[in-house]
This record gives sequence, C-alpha cells and structure tokens, in this order.
Amino acid sequence: MIDQQTINQIFETADIVEVISDFVTLKKSGANYKGLSPFSNEKTPSFMVSPAKGIFKDFSSGKGGNVVGFLMEHEKLSYPEALRYLANKYSIPVEEKELTADEILQKNERESLMAVTAFAAKYFHDRLASEEGKAIGLSYFRKRGIRDDIIGKFQLGYSPEMRSAFTTEAGKNGYKTSYLVKTGLSIEGENNIFDRFAGRVIFPIHSLSGNVIGFGGRTLRTDKNVAKYLNSPESDIYHKSRVLYGLFHAKKAIVSQEGCFLVEGYTDVIAMHQAGIENVVASSGTALTTEQIRLIKRFANNITILYDGDEAGIKASFRGIDMILEEGMNVKVVMLPEGEDPDSYSQTHSSSEFLDFIRANEKDFISFKTEILLTEAQHDPVKRAQLITDIVKSVAVIPDGILRSVFLKECSLQLDVEEQVLYNEVNKIRQRMQEQKWRREQPGGRDQNFQRVPREFPRTTLPSQPLVPGFVENIFSEVEEREIIYFLLKFGNQMLHLSSEDNAEISVAHYIIREIQNDELEFTNLVYKQIFEDVKDIIERGEELAERYFIYHDHSGVRELSVDIYTSRYELSKVWKRKEAYVEMPGENLGFEVPKSLLSYKMMVIEKALSQLRKELEDTEKNSDLESLNHLIVRIQSLEQVKRQLSIGLGGRTIIR
Ligand code: CTP
Ligand code: MN
Repeated sequence: MIDQQTINQIFETADIVEVISDFVTLKKSGANYKGLSPFSNEKTPSFMVSPAKGIFKDFSSGKGGNVVGFLMEHEKLSYPEALRYLANKYSIPVEEKELTADEILQKNERESLMAVTAFAAKYFHDRLASEEGKAIGLSYFRKRGIRDDIIGKFQLGYSPEMRSAFTTEAGKNGYKTSYLVKTGLSIEGENNIFDRFAGRVIFPIHSLSGNVIGFGGRTLRTDKNVAKYLNSPESDIYHKSRVLYGLFHAKKAIVSQEGCFLVEGYTDVIAMHQAGIENVVASSGTALTTEQIRLIKRFANNITILYDGDEAGIKASFRGIDMILEEGMNVKVVMLPEGEDPDSYSQTHSSSEFLDFIRANEKDFISFKTEILLTEAQHDPVKRAQLITDIVKSVAVIPDGILRSVFLKECSLQLDVEEQVLYNEVNKIRQRMQEQKWRREQPGGRDQNFQRVPREFPRTTLPSQPLVPGFVENIFSEVEEREIIYFLLKFGNQMLHLSSEDNAEISVAHYIIREIQNDELEFTNLVYKQIFEDVKDIIERGEELAERYFIYHDHSGVRELSVDIYTSRYELSKVWKRKEAYVEMPGENLGFEVPKSLLSYKMMVIEKALSQLRKELEDTEKNSDLESLNHLIVRIQSLEQVKRQLSIGLGGRTIIR
C-alpha cells in the first residue's frame, strides 16, 4: 500500500504532457496539446491534453481523465501499478503504508495462494518436457495442432498420472498443505492427499494482471463417465464469475480492435490466437455473468458472440445478448456451422477464411433473433407474437434512448410490425422495470404502493402518445433539444455565473427558460416540450426541481427520458464529439456549457428556418411573384444576420420571428 502523502507527491510531480508523450506524439495547440488518439485508429487528431488542468480527453473514444487514468487505460495498469510507474519515472521513493495485522494476514494469505498457483503452473508446464509429459501431454497438444509458441504463451501443461506427484513435489518445495488445498490443487481424503488434476492436460487461468489464479484440466480419456474438464474451485484468489479466460492475453488487442470475441471454451481461445485473432475470451466453466461483461467493457464496447450453431449454443447466446445489451454495449452474433466450434473450424480453414466467415455471418442481435425464431414461427401467429415480444424485450433493456429508437425502427422493418406498436410495448416493459427498480430501492420494499407515491405532485395532462414518429427521423436536429433538456433536468437547480452579464448569478433552469422564452422558441419533440413546460411551472412557483416529479410523471415518455438522463453519466459524449474539441467534461463548467448549448440550439433552429425559406424562394422564383420574392429575401437576409451574430457567440436577444 502506498501512503497518501506519497500519492500526493506523485500527482504533484508527474507532468501529464511528459508522461503521455512517451506513448503519443503531441503537438502544442494553444494552451493544450493535441495528438492522434492512442485508443482508436484515427487520421485527424482528436486527442487533447490540458497541462493546466492535468487531464486528457480523447474525443474519438470518449475516454478522459488524469495522468494515472491515462496509464491505467493505455498500459492496462492497476491504480497502484500506475502510481508505482510514475514514482519510478520521477524517482520518488515509495513509502509503503503500515498495514494492520488483519491486512497483513489477508495479504499474506492471498500472496501465499498466488505463490502456490504460480509454482503449480510452472511445474505443470515443465512436465511437458518430461518423458511421460512428452509422450502424453505434449503429443496431445501437437495432435490438436497447437504450436509450441502458443503452448508457451498460455503456459499449457500436464499433470502426471501418479496420484500425488504434484502434491509431493510442492511439499518438498515448502508449500504448506493448507494452501494446496485452498487453491484446490490438492484434495484431502480420509488419510491421504492427492492431486486434483492427475493425468490431465492443464490450462492455467490468468488474472487481469497475468498471475495464474486457477486451472482447467482436460481429461485425455474418451470415457463418457469422466468429466471432460475439471476446474479449480472458488478461492480467495479465484472467483469464477469475475474471470474471463484469455482476457490477460487479449486486453491489448480488444482495445486496438475496439471489440472482443466471446467464445465458449479454452481451446477456442487458444485456436483463435493461433490463427492471429487475439481479441478473444471465454467464460469457461460458467454461464456468462454481468461481472464478466463489465470486465470486457473496461476495454471496448463491442462484443461478438461466437457460439456453436447447436441448440445449446443458441440458447446460451440468447441469454448473453440481453445481458450485454443491458450493460449498454453493442452485441453481434456469429453462428458457426452446426457441430463446429472456433477451434475445429480453424483446424480446417485458414485464418483469412475464418475472418471472412465471421465478417460474412456477423449479425446484429435483431437479425439474428428474427432469423432463428422466424423459421420456427413462420406460419404460427401465436409463436410469431411470442417472437415479437421476445425481441422487443431485448430492445427494452438497452439503456440509451436514441439507440432503442434506432433498433425499434430496424425491428419494425424486419418484423413488418408498426413502429408505434413496438414502441408502446417497449415503454410498457421499461415502465415495469422502473417500477421494480423503485420498489427494490424503497425502504419497506414490495409493500409500498408504487402508484400512490407521485399523487402529491401537480399534473399537467398530455395525451399519452409515444413520440416515436418524427423522433427517429429527426434524430440529428433533436440532439440539440435533448441537450438542453439534459441540462435542465440534471443541473436545473445549480447556479450559473454569467461572466457576460456582470457575473450575474442565476440558476440553470431560470437561465434556460429565460433564453427560450425571449426568443419565443418551442421544442418540436412533444416530450421535451412537456418537460420544459413543467419545469417552467415549477420554477415560477418558486420550487426546486425534484427528480421524483419527472420519474413518476403521468406521461410515459417523460418518465423514460428523465430516467435515462438521471442515470446516465456520459449522456453527452455523442453530442460533444460532434463539436469542436475542448477539454471539458459536461457539467464541469456550466457557465460555459449551458450558454453554448443554447447557442447551438438556436443555430439549429435558424438553419432549419433558413433552409425552409430557401426552398420557398426557389418555388417563388419560378412563379415570379416579385413582392413575395422581396419579402422572402429580406427575411433570409435578417436570419443570416442573426446567424452571423450567433456564430461569433453573441448571446442576448436573438430575434427569429
Ligand atoms: N467445460 C467445463 N466442464 C465440463 C465441460 C466443459 O468446465 N465438464 C467448460 C470448459 O471451459 C470448456 C467449455 O466449457 O472449454 C466448452 O466446453 P466444450 O465445448 O465441451 O469443450 P472444448 O473447449 O471445445 O474442448 P475440446 O475441444 O477439448 O472438447
Ligand atoms: Mn472443442
């Protein structure tokens, strides 16, 4: 443990530009530095470093943080590892914090277990060079076409037939029996102790930082009564649900390829590495868990599931799809021909054929589910309805509202069902999810009546119409409207300091309302409009904005959107990316961001009005109606004038009508 004082000293000393320059070529650009993103494959630089703030921001991947964050992200170091890296670079002596007796015990225990597994991995690997190991283990790997360099890379090994060969050897080397048992390498019988993996080939399982923490052992017998694989049991260092086989070897490639293949077994991971595809992991030995998905998410946002085309494979992939979507990640699926797994497929095909197959057969989850289920449900209306519900359920768990809309459009096309119907369905499911979430979070739990809670709030009525038509088509002009709603809901009660108005203090909500009303603007999206009107009412009554009000709103669209906004941390990254790069996270500098947001919105409104007028102008020119022509030209000119003002960042009143 590094003590706080040392940590402070490291942060004070480390020069972020200097540190990052070891990995990225940076050029000065104003007060900041710019370079090509090390996290994506870009041609124009969008990676920024601000020495004054001590932070970096990568606009192509959305990543950002301080100097330690950069090292953790780029070098895949843990927090203490990154600190030690910096301490070393700047010759700062690291004072280790005094550990409590308990901490020492725990640390010693974990370290002892880890020492045992490291010893075992080396022991098993070395056995491949022994007489027995060569004849049985090594020849098995060779028969399966695994190259020696890959055997070395994954530290594959062999555990001798003799029932306690390993346990005896470990004892001779001073490893305590209790640790051998706790790691599951040895099993204690009545009056003897023997090896768990005797006679099996060994696949060591690595932690994220490359330590061996567990093992899988495959039998070489074809006997159906013998379990094909034995795995290490849970221990203080090995938690199955939090480990992905191959992740240590894959993490760099996952980052550079911006995605990860998910396969079923040890041998699949290994075969794909051998074929040159290194961004691959397996959830070996357990059904995929959310913790495992989050592990992948630390490195990339895209997962491609690569499972057998048999029934079990399809079932497993269905489960995986929803879990991945729920984490806000993108998921694709490739089904291999029936009876093949990535390992067997790569034995009979070159790696370029393999990659071609993946590219040609990669499907988004909607096409995948539709295809599979439609073959079963083609002429059966009941089954068809089930299929639709099934797919809509997958869409409903996606946290991002815009993405949900895009997928619903896709569904509507592929399933030939009206978008509106699907949208209603999704809303219903999300509402249920939300209610469940609230019930879980309410003290008193299930007994609380969800419906009763919000009744104390005043209501405005709006026909419960979903907003989908127009929403999807207008996605890109709506981005600006949504951004304003984001600030309104998320930061409405916070105070702004407006340097343009003698440092006047005004709340974000007040300011936005004033700006929108001054210009007599109206949101085109019904839900946004409703939220704006409600905020206005609340502010006029002199009350504060409460999250509960919107989360419990009568209108399902308002509920949905507000939940999205209140729960998303990086809501704006998509919008931000489209604007010129500056090193600032949304919400950190409201006095700058909110006015800027309003300017973009007004700009968009004007641009729309202008393009409308220009179209009218074209039509009028054909009819040669001089008076209308003149009128139009004057309108266009004055709008152009406003636009110029806006574009140099002038606030104040902008007359649009
Ligand atoms: N598995 C397990 N226990 C078993 C069977 C399988 O833990 N009794 C896990 C292993 O991690 C295995 C994965 O499930 O890698 C996939 O199983 P399977 O497809 O049967 O094995 P393969 O990895 O394909 O192994 P092989 O090609 O050697 O048969
Ligand atoms: Mn296999």
